[in-house]
Amino acid sequence: MPLRLSILGLALLPSSFALVSRDGHTGRLPAMGWNSWNEYECAINETVFLTVGELLVSLGLKDLGYNHVNIDDCWSDKVKKRDNVTGKILPDYTKFPQGIKHTADEIHKLGLKLGIYGDAGSLTCGGFAGSLGHEELDAKTWAEWGIDYLKYDNCNVPDEWDDDYRWWPENWLGGPPAEDQTAGGDGEAKPVPAPAGYDWTTSKSFDRYKIMGDALLASNRTIEYSQCAWGHARIDEWGDSTGHSWRMWGDIYPIWSGKFQWSWGLMPILNHASFFYNSSNFWGHADFDMLEVGNGNLTLEESRSHFALWAALKSPLIIGTPLDGIKPEILKILSNKDLIAFNQDPVVGEPAKPYKWGVNPNFTWNQTHPAEYWSGKSSKGVHVFALNTLDTTQKKTIDFSEVPGLDARTKYIVYDSWTGKKQGVFKKKYEARVKSHDTLAIRIVKEDGSRPY
Ligand code: GAL
Repeated sequence: MPLRLSILGLALLPSSFALVSRDGHTGRLPAMGWNSWNEYECAINETVFLTVGELLVSLGLKDLGYNHVNIDDCWSDKVKKRDNVTGKILPDYTKFPQGIKHTADEIHKLGLKLGIYGDAGSLTCGGFAGSLGHEELDAKTWAEWGIDYLKYDNCNVPDEWDDDYRWWPENWLGGPPAEDQTAGGDGEAKPVPAPAGYDWTTSKSFDRYKIMGDALLASNRTIEYSQCAWGHARIDEWGDSTGHSWRMWGDIYPIWSGKFQWSWGLMPILNHASFFYNSSNFWGHADFDMLEVGNGNLTLEESRSHFALWAALKSPLIIGTPLDGIKPEILKILSNKDLIAFNQDPVVGEPAKPYKWGVNPNFTWNQTHPAEYWSGKSSKGVHVFALNTLDTTQKKTIDFSEVPGLDARTKYIVYDSWTGKKQGVFKKKYEARVKSHDTLAIRIVKEDGSRPY
């Protein structure tokens, strides 16, 4: 369904009051690291994290910027939940025999940072202690333990904290933002659409995320704040005022398209990104969820596309695959210097954007064939990404007159971002064959090596 331009304009309004960390750098660029959820779910213990920490160092990933080791759900005591006297969340001492502070100390010795997981409701998604109503104490406790990063989830929100209106992108049936098209979700009655021009910073979701953000700021430690609100309540419009990143959609799953239970393949998420990419800039990043590179049945080409596009979107790059025994070809994807450099560019904060759809007419909402042609500027040139969503190899043409920052008159040098190799000097267009579900990733500079724009 093609979108009306007025709607698109509304969807792309950037927000302008980003939260700058007091240390002057935490959260300025997308976070990089590793998280346990995608592959381990609740089967975690201290050894998992210490092994990952050592491997981030020995595999060279730390040197490439992957410096967070993040604990996801299921780290605390599911039965006792909190200490009777102090009210602090109790770690699960079977999984973390010496407590979380010990894990943090060990991770810090490796020159890495430790992340933890909490929830802006009464319980986490896995049924462990939530932080709603305990924000100050929990932020203080995490700071005492030496925590550097908080992923803050959105499960089990009590009725009195429910939003008056719904913005749940996962429930859209035909495309954004017509809320009257949404399914009820969670078996509830069809939600009331928000009035035109509704200010989502007056929502209770905003309050729940801001209270924890303020509690983290009030603690005596800089803690990066990853808000896992699944795109609800238009967090893309205000998430950079309360934290450093915000999840845009539901849970990712290692499949190309479609959905498995409540989790989503890569193409439905990219389809959402094709319309909602514009909120990222320095200090705040739209999070399209943690990487599944190397997981499930994703082919090598699919893993390549996943990494290239998540890097292009300036989504946090949080690895979700086990590092012990990682296949060399998967490590190679995660170690791609050109793509990491785009994601982490110190000069240009904006992500890549679609300049053309491909299979479908522009601005078509389609969860199998989203926008295929993306481009973005960096301090090292203009980067172009051409995804092949079809099931056969396709010739992809990059027509320079269509790419923002390039033109049809100038000769350009093209580098392949996968190999780092110079492909030659080209005028008007560059063509390449792209395998099914693979992505052409190139970096373009002028003949004298300078940036084209
Ligand atoms: C989900 C979240 C996942 C993971 C999981 C843990 O809500 O989106 O990334 O953290 O909870 O239970």
